[in-house]
Amino acid sequence: MGTWKRVCAPAFVVLAAVVFLPSFSAGQDEQTLRGVQRVRVRTMKSISRAMRRVKVYTKKANYERVAAAAEEIALLSAAIPYLSPKGSAFGKTRIKAEVWSRFDDYSKIARDSAQIARDVAKAAQAKDKSAVLKTFSALSDSCTQCHKPYRKKKRK
Ligand code: HEC
Repeated sequence: MGTWKRVCAPAFVVLAAVVFLPSFSAGQDEQTLRGVQRVRVRTMKSISRAMRRVKVYTKKANYERVAAAAEEIALLSAAIPYLSPKGSAFGKTRIKAEVWSRFDDYSKIARDSAQIARDVAKAAQAKDKSAVLKTFSALSDSCTQCHKPYRKKKRK
């Protein structure tokens, strides 16, 4: 994973959120919402790839990379609520409608997940392997905590 992707991928998502956000309040047109949905799914894929990097680099004891990947997860996770505006469920999306009846809860889970990712980064900066493993396990649980209530099962 090159530096460009590490730095620019999360920056892109945040930028996309900032650009899309103002248009939510003023009549959310379908094209914008479809775009947000695509960014949401891509963001999830990026989070997933960064999780794999945390795992791989922890094994290699490359804590600088572990910290970078964890920081990326923190940034991307914090953006999830902004990438989940009402009406952004199209086609094969797996987002559940419950997101919008319990948006505060959904947002809190995203915030907590981002905080745990920052804890992983801190543990990595301290080169504390057991703390990295422990916080990483908590981070994985936090994905499930959101997916269980708010993501539909994969269609076969
Ligand atoms: C606050 C809620 C929330 C958190 C936290 C969260 N996710 Fe998700 N995730 C979702 C939702 C909602 C979807 C479905 C998006 C859609 O299909 O529109 C999703 C979809 C995904 C997908 C499927 C993407 C695809 O290709 O369709 C992956 C992979 C994923 N998440 C990984 C993760 C990982 C790894 C974490 C934890 C580090 C995580 N997510 C944390 C809400 C969350």
